[in-house]
Amino acid sequence: MARALLEWQVELGVDETIGDHPVDRYVLATLKPGVATDVAVLRPRPLAQVDPVDVARQTASAAPTLDALREALGSYEHCELKKGAKNLVFSDGIATARVMIIGEAPGRDEDREGRPFVGRAGQLLDRMLGAIDLSRSKNVYITNVLPWRPPQNRDPQPEEIAMMRPFLSRHVELVNPDLLVLMGNISCQAVLGKRGITRLRGNWQEAMKRPVMPMFHPAYLLRNLSAKREAWADLLELKARLLLSEEL
Ligand code: URA
Repeated sequence: MARALLEWQVELGVDETIGDHPVDRYVLATLKPGVATDVAVLRPRPLAQVDPVDVARQTASAAPTLDALREALGSYEHCELKKGAKNLVFSDGIATARVMIIGEAPGRDEDREGRPFVGRAGQLLDRMLGAIDLSRSKNVYITNVLPWRPPQNRDPQPEEIAMMRPFLSRHVELVNPDLLVLMGNISCQAVLGKRGITRLRGNWQEAMKRPVMPMFHPAYLLRNLSAKREAWADLLELKARLLLSEEL
């Protein structure tokens, strides 16, 4: 049966068989009779596996300035969120500020404008900061854990946070603020490695080589008016710490 099939193919003009993988005929020609011809088969090599977090670490640590860091983020190709976003949202505010605020991720308005905290939550944040004489046009620097908007504003995934953490860490190093403010659970997760904002808020922690204050996210405050009382207490605590360290 197999022979009949072969004869039929020869009759049709087949004079060569083709395997799943290409064969290196030059190598084949050098083989002694009786040697297995397998060595001449060119099998595809597995693609080099890169660890996106390693790439992020190397890229971020090599950035000597904020502009270089922004550029490095812009050319980082391992985060799928980039494909769905309109803009890279890097930061806003004063790069020499003593206070650096870290939010979660851009929403629709931020994605459209390429600036963090410009929507409703951002307007509330500006009012909160204004109440203790802070503002992004004067003495505050603002960024997010993720620079690209997640689809439908879904929560950032742990892999996305892990990829962006080296960039965030370098961002903090370059700005070198006296204090960090973490807005909500995602930034607590990224910076402190823990969640539970209701417990964490209002208590100073140490991370990235400086004091860190976790606070309720302004978007949470928009939905939970009664939590504004705690947010106000945390703002006063922040102001007190700033005044204290100014005097030292
Ligand atoms: N929420 C955030 O955490 N960041 C923004 O930039 C906007 C909304």
